[in-house]
Amino acid sequence: MKIVFATGNSGKLREASEILGKGFELVTPAQMGITDDVPETGLTLKANSIIKAEHIWNSCKCACFADDTGLEVAALGGEPGVHTARYAGEDKDFNRNMDKVLGELSRLRAECSMAEALGVTMNRYSRRARFRSVITLILDGEKYFFEGTLEGCIAYGKSGNGGFGYDPVFIPDEYPGKTLADITEEEKNAISHRGKALRAMAAFLNNM
Ligand code: IMP
Repeated sequence: MKIVFATGNSGKLREASEILGKGFELVTPAQMGITDDVPETGLTLKANSIIKAEHIWNSCKCACFADDTGLEVAALGGEPGVHTARYAGEDKDFNRNMDKVLGELSRLRAECSMAEALGVTMNRYSRRARFRSVITLILDGEKYFFEGTLEGCIAYGKSGNGGFGYDPVFIPDEYPGKTLADITEEEKNAISHRGKALRAMAAFLNNM
């Protein structure tokens, strides 16, 4: 079965192809002649994954799926969330995005220490965070949704050379003391938010 995956990221395409297995041929929008980008104006990850998948469906009326991922930091009220890619600006700079998360948590930590010194209890400070991926699959015009999460916490600084995005500051619960950029791609894919959402979709497709 041929399915269009709304991504231009070769790493994501490889990961999805491995998880879906031989019965599925994944192609990119570019390979289908779809080269225009669609603005991700949704207020939730699910809304953005729908926008991206519908864009492909409307262009070619073929089986397709899109994913949208966000980093949700508990002490920041779930931010950056839907703003994850552009948290520090339109250029989607990974380092500046990570610096902004680290900076926001340092500021909050300082505020909480100050409050504590003044005898006021502030329970807002925590470094707990999670990645959440939502996939929208469209088959014959019908939409199906799949979700995967990865729980962990934000490190005090960056570590590791692997991965991308916020990997150097995210410590998954499965690897205490190591960030996602410290572990191998294989180790990350086995526990990742996207891996879980993709495996849920693969199970659905294989049971059709
Ligand atoms: P997208 O929806 O997959 O394009 O992801 C949005 C943003 O989330 C990316 O630009 C990255 O900054 C971040 N992100 C997504 N997946 C990961 C991941 O596996 N590790 C670290 N950051 C990620």
